[in-house]
Amino acid sequence: MSKSIPEPWRIKMVEPIKMITRAERQSALITAGLNPFLLRAEDVFIDLLTDSGTGAMSDRQWAGIFLGDESYAGSKSYYKLSKTVEEVFGYQYTIPVHQGRGAEQILFPHLVELAKKSGASEPIFISNHHFDTTKAHVEMAGAKVKNFICPSALQTDIYNDWKGNFDLNSLGYEIKNNRKNIVAIVITITCNSVGGQPLSMDNICSAAEMAKGAGIPVIIDAARFAENAYFIKQRDKNFSDKTISQIVKEIFSKADIFTMSAKKDGMVNIGGLCCFRNDESLFREVQIRCVPMEGFITYGGLAGRDIEAMAIGLQEALSEDHLRSRISQVEYLGSKLLKAGIPIQTPVGGHAVFVDARKIFPDIKPENFPAQVLCNALYLESGVRATEIGSLMMGRDPISGQQEPSLFELMRLTIPRRTYTNSHIDYVADSLIEVVKNADILKPLDFKYEPKILRQFTAHFREIDR
Ligand code: F0G
Repeated sequence: MSKSIPEPWRIKMVEPIKMITRAERQSALITAGLNPFLLRAEDVFIDLLTDSGTGAMSDRQWAGIFLGDESYAGSKSYYKLSKTVEEVFGYQYTIPVHQGRGAEQILFPHLVELAKKSGASEPIFISNHHFDTTKAHVEMAGAKVKNFICPSALQTDIYNDWKGNFDLNSLGYEIKNNRKNIVAIVITITCNSVGGQPLSMDNICSAAEMAKGAGIPVIIDAARFAENAYFIKQRDKNFSDKTISQIVKEIFSKADIFTMSAKKDGMVNIGGLCCFRNDESLFREVQIRCVPMEGFITYGGLAGRDIEAMAIGLQEALSEDHLRSRISQVEYLGSKLLKAGIPIQTPVGGHAVFVDARKIFPDIKPENFPAQVLCNALYLESGVRATEIGSLMMGRDPISGQQEPSLFELMRLTIPRRTYTNSHIDYVADSLIEVVKNADILKPLDFKYEPKILRQFTAHFREIDR
C-alpha cells in the first residue's frame, strides 16, 4: 500500500469556528431569504462558498505584509511584483488591480473600442467558458460572449482528462465565418464554470494558434493557472518531467495578455493582475484606464502590503508539494461522495467538487433551482455553506425575460487553499450523504424577491410543493 502524503505545512495560527444549533441555522436561513449568500459568515461552520480570497497565507506572506511599501507611486512592492510576473509568466508589463474583475473592467472596453475601429459591428468574445463576472464585463463593454466548451464537459458522469478544453471545431468555424467581430479569445484555466476542469497543453496551443493565425488577441483568464499546470504535469506524459514553473511559462507564451484574480492561485485574500507579454502600446493605453478606475498605475486599488503578499504568493503557487496536497484534498472529497453514489462532475476539478443536483432531483425544474435546494438542505443539516452554479446564476435573457437555459444544475463545494483539514472534509461528505438520503422530502424553490441581474447574490426564496 502506498503511504499517503500529508500537507506540506503545519498550523501556526488558528481561527475558531463555531457550530450553531439546527434551530439557530433554520432561523438564520429564513432571515437570509433561503439564500446562503445572505447568511452571516459567523453562522456558517465550514464555508465552501468559494476558494476566492478565503485561503490561508503563509508565514512568509504575513512577513511580507510588514515589508510592503505604502508609497502612492512607484513603491518597491510594485517593482517586486513586476519582476515576479516576468519570472513566473514571462510577461514584461504589469498592472496591479484590486481583483480579477478590476482587470476585466480596465481591459475589455478598450479592446472593444479597438475592434469597433477595425470594423466589428457586433463585437464578441470567445472562450472555452467565461466566468460570470467576465461575461458581465464583456456585456457592459457592449459586446457579447460565446462559449465553445468541449461536449464531454456537459456529461458529468463521463470521465475525460480535459473537460476544460475548447471545442476546436466550433472555434474554427466562428473564426472563419465571423472574424471581423471577434474582439479576443479568452482561455479560462482551469475552467471554473464546468467544474474547475483543466485544458490540455495541446488544446491551449491549438486555440491560441487558430486565433493568432487570424490576428485575434489571446487572453488567459489565469485565476487557477497553477492548478491547470499541475493537471498537465499529471495527465500528459510529455510534461511529466517538467516543473510546474516550466509548464506555466509554456502556457503563457501562447497568449498576449492575461487577467488574473490573485485571490485563487495568487494565494492572497485580495489582489489581481492585468499583464501584457510584449505589447507596450496596448499596456500604456490600458494603464491609463487603471488610474480613474483602480488607482495609480503602481498600486491599482491595493495597499503596498497586499502587493508584497501577492508577489510571494505567486511563487508559492508553483510548489508541487502544495498543488499535490491541494488537489488531492479535492479528490478525497470527490471520491467519498462517489463511493456513496452521489453524482458529481468527474473527474473532480482543481478547486471544488461539483455535485449534479439535476440527477438528485430529476423532477425539480430548472426554474425551481435544484442546486439551491441542495445548498439550503446542506446548510440546515450541517452548517456547511456551498453555492449554486446553475439556472439561478445563469439568469434571464435581458430582452425576452425568459430564463436562460443552463448547461448544469450544480452545487459547488469549493475548497479554500490551506484552510481546512481532511476531518472537516469528512464532516462535509458525511453531512451531504445524509442530505441526499432524504432528498425526497426537500421542496423546490420559487422567488420571493428576484433582482434583475446577478440574482444569486441577493434573491429571496420561498418553498413550494413538489
Ligand atoms: N475569472 C474566473 C475564472 C473566476 O473564477 C473569477 C472569480 C474571476 C475571473 C473574477 O475574479 O472575483 O477576483 O474579481 N471567481 C470567484 C468564484 C468569485 O467564487 O469562483 P474576482
